[in-house]
Amino acid sequence: MTELQSADKMPRSFSLPLIGNTIEVIVKQELFYLQQYQKHGNIFQVSFPAVMGYGKVACLVGPAANKLVLKDQADKLSSRIGNKALEPIVSNDLVLLQDGEEHRANRKLILPVFHHQVIAAYFDTIQDVVTETVTNWGTQSTINLNAEMRKLTLAIAVRTFLGSNKTEEIDRISNYYTTLINSLNGMIKWDVPFTLYGRGQAARRKIVEYVREIIQERITLGNINESKDVIGLLMSIVDEDGQKFTETQIINQAIGFLFAAHETTSSLMSWLMFELGNRPEWRHKLREEQQQVLGSEPLKLQHLRQLPQMSNVLKEGERLYPPASALSRAVVEDIEYAGYKIPAGWYVAVFPALTHQLPEIYREPDLFDPDRFSPPREEDKQQPFSLIGFGGGVHGCLGIEFANMEMKIILSTLLQHYDWTVNPTTAEISPVRRPFTMQNKLQATFVSLAQNPDFTDSKNLKTDTKKSFRDSASV
Ligand code: HEM
Repeated sequence: MTELQSADKMPRSFSLPLIGNTIEVIVKQELFYLQQYQKHGNIFQVSFPAVMGYGKVACLVGPAANKLVLKDQADKLSSRIGNKALEPIVSNDLVLLQDGEEHRANRKLILPVFHHQVIAAYFDTIQDVVTETVTNWGTQSTINLNAEMRKLTLAIAVRTFLGSNKTEEIDRISNYYTTLINSLNGMIKWDVPFTLYGRGQAARRKIVEYVREIIQERITLGNINESKDVIGLLMSIVDEDGQKFTETQIINQAIGFLFAAHETTSSLMSWLMFELGNRPEWRHKLREEQQQVLGSEPLKLQHLRQLPQMSNVLKEGERLYPPASALSRAVVEDIEYAGYKIPAGWYVAVFPALTHQLPEIYREPDLFDPDRFSPPREEDKQQPFSLIGFGGGVHGCLGIEFANMEMKIILSTLLQHYDWTVNPTTAEISPVRRPFTMQNKLQATFVSLAQNPDFTDSKNLKTDTKKSFRDSASV
């Protein structure tokens, strides 16, 4: 039997005694991990200060490591401790911050919220929000892609999760929510009005108050079972012992879902729009596919299932720009990997962004090439856990179907009504995997297809858009 090496022997770069690699991570973000990977290969260690609640981290890259951490050894690892930085936002009632039996039981209990028939019922609502939101994009000179996508995906989430359909309410909750998310950057965790953290917590209390009012109103009116939004579903769930979620649990789960659904989808959508804006040939391909499937019919849910090219474009976005570039767990029982023993007390991290760049899995990984997911290539299917933008294993994303439907509705709507260019160009953001710091700088200029008679793409779609955008039933 070969003897295991201590994880302390894993390759590492220089780190400062008390603060470890903290400054490099703050400054370089995911680029830091890319550089460590380029220097040391697919196993290395980094460290963070114990005062911040972290310590030594074994960083593992590749499908085998992903499978081990996310699935095979998941019971020896804690997602709650690994993701404790999220606690001020989501609380331990979100399944992502639960472990073991508690996690299994609660994940099973909330599955009805993510059932595909339930998700399908959100189609019309999402389509309405998208149409209302993007209707004036062609009249603005340029938009900040990420800012607008954040507004759009938050409006969708507030409407479908909380059931709110008043613009003023959605705007108010969106503002509180943005303050809460921004507070994650606050270094001083004092709940007082003059800290970023304190303002975030004050905003959270406003959201809690708002959701509590919705719940109380429904209890008073006795119409719990009529509401098909996420709050309504959570209120109707009963476990084997006849117990329901408490009010606090429902509120915390709803806020957690907003968090899980919002930044992730807006980030991926921004990068997809960026890639497509730089690639007229792919916009053309997608419009052709749309034209073949829709003909002159309005977009319906069943059409979305017949758009393989668009599905591949989404997967390529997930591969190149996974919104969660690293997934972290705390080690609670020793685990082994590649001849190393990683002891309890350490942390372990796997990296969607790095796995997705491995040339042994993805041919020419820097290229935007959605065809890599079509048969016979199907590069993501050669080894399990090769594409993990939505995670995988026991904590795998519950909202994947919701997110894919939402992204397809947004893309289809924009492709039908607009053409667009983006700034900066792909050439200015190279190599592909560096650009997360660029996300807030992406700008897009939209031109309405109806106002562009020279546009040579599919003629029927162009004819359709001559109807008033808002009146058009086709989006
Ligand atoms: C493009 C959009 C999305 C991406 C890229 C994404 C990505 C992920 C990832 C990587 C995880 C696993 C985290 C980990 O293992 O540490 C996860 C978990 C989760 N996601 Fe998503 N997500 C997206 C959209 C959504 C949406 C729309 C929802 C709907 C509410 C959602 C709900 C969840 C939940 C509840 C979990 C935790 C599951 C568990 O712990 O058992 N996500 N997501």
